[in-house]
Amino acid sequence: KYKRQYFMPPVTCMKWAEKEYVDKAPVWCSVDLRDGNQALVIPMNLEQKVEFFKLLVDIGFKEIEVGFPAASETEYTFLRKLIEEDLIPDDVTVQVLTQAREHIIKKTFDAVKGAKNVIVHVYNSTSVSQREQVFKKSKEEILQIAVEGAKLLKQLTEEAGENYRFEYSPESFTGTEPEYALEVCNAVLDIWQPTADRKPIINLPVTVEHSMPHVYASQVEYICENLKYRENVIVSLHPHNDRGCGVADSEMGLLAGADRIEGTLFGNGERTGNVDIITLALNMYSQGVEPNLDFTDMSAICEKYEEFTGMKISERSPYCGALVFAAFSGSHQDAIAKGMHWLDEKKPEHWTVPYLPIDPKDVGRNYDADVIRINSQSGKGGVGYILETKYGLNLPAKMREAMGYTAKAVSDHTQKELLPDQIFELFKKTFENVT
Ligand code: KIV
Ligand code: ZN
Repeated sequence: KYKRQYFMPPVTCMKWAEKEYVDKAPVWCSVDLRDGNQALVIPMNLEQKVEFFKLLVDIGFKEIEVGFPAASETEYTFLRKLIEEDLIPDDVTVQVLTQAREHIIKKTFDAVKGAKNVIVHVYNSTSVSQREQVFKKSKEEILQIAVEGAKLLKQLTEEAGENYRFEYSPESFTGTEPEYALEVCNAVLDIWQPTADRKPIINLPVTVEHSMPHVYASQVEYICENLKYRENVIVSLHPHNDRGCGVADSEMGLLAGADRIEGTLFGNGERTGNVDIITLALNMYSQGVEPNLDFTDMSAICEKYEEFTGMKISERSPYCGALVFAAFSGSHQDAIAKGMHWLDEKKPEHWTVPYLPIDPKDVGRNYDADVIRINSQSGKGGVGYILETKYGLNLPAKMREAMGYTAKAVSDHTQKELLPDQIFELFKKTFENVT
């Protein structure tokens, strides 16, 4: 019955629409331990958080939001443990979230004392709904909250040292008039006075996604084009996924000029989640852009993620789900088998195999177990492929055809998938009298 409000910027140039793809990976920031964790039915305990942190480091994240230490005892203790037990590698920056309120900011600085590299991420909500309904404050009053927070951060950072950087988020950015969001961000930057050697981050959250990706891209472009000190500021995106478009928001936001992405593994996070960094990174990988994140052992990542979070990864989750490279249908299997031969023979410049978006081997998956899967939908191509690649049996066309029909009939009758060893047994039984 109600239409959700969103805001197009006053001027749109849509330069992003002229670009084909991103030319380099953004700076990645994992918010798994904060936004992801706060949305779990049972948030992670201390040990799980430490193990998850190590997993993120192993994948290659250089910026990790570790929590909201002033808001929860576990998050405070977790951060102290990371620092005191020297678990943060020198090239990794920990990010801590705080509201723009004096006592919370001060407690956050206490929590993070002694860390080697820190981003203090301060936010306040700027949207029309939040201003009117939640805070009952004017635009000027909301702007003042941001400015006071920015001042305190600057003051405490000057006392704390060189290894601190700042981030500001106008929370609910996409529900905020773009001109006003720009005014608030610029006022914050006026306090911080960005320099090339210490660039602050302006983060533009899609706190709740309620418009199409091109609207967000236009908002991002408007901010990027009009932000003061732009060359000394890192523009970051933080898309949530309420309309299922978090990845599209991120890709188009990067085309629109952003430099950095905050997201999570498998898109964990509030409600429908934060943007899934795995999908984003591997989308880039499939276009030849090195993501600088290591997903070569995806099964191990999936296992650990499920163990720590208690979440289940969908079998259709891009690049990671159990079935995302599987081909049961005979015609798909035939095309894949032919594509693999083509690849071996011609060695083309691009990945050209039909029905496979990337080489499954690149994420640690294999052809026998994960790609060519045999059931009643399958045909001679798939069965032939398994017998050839796993058992070295290059069958003549007629035998392959017969094996295809036999396997299909057995699977149809038993209503079960046939595993490679079962196919080999079936082959032996079918042709036991043939010499
Ligand atoms: O989604 C959001 O707006 C947030 C902010 C705190 C950055 O998580
Ligand atoms: Zn968020």
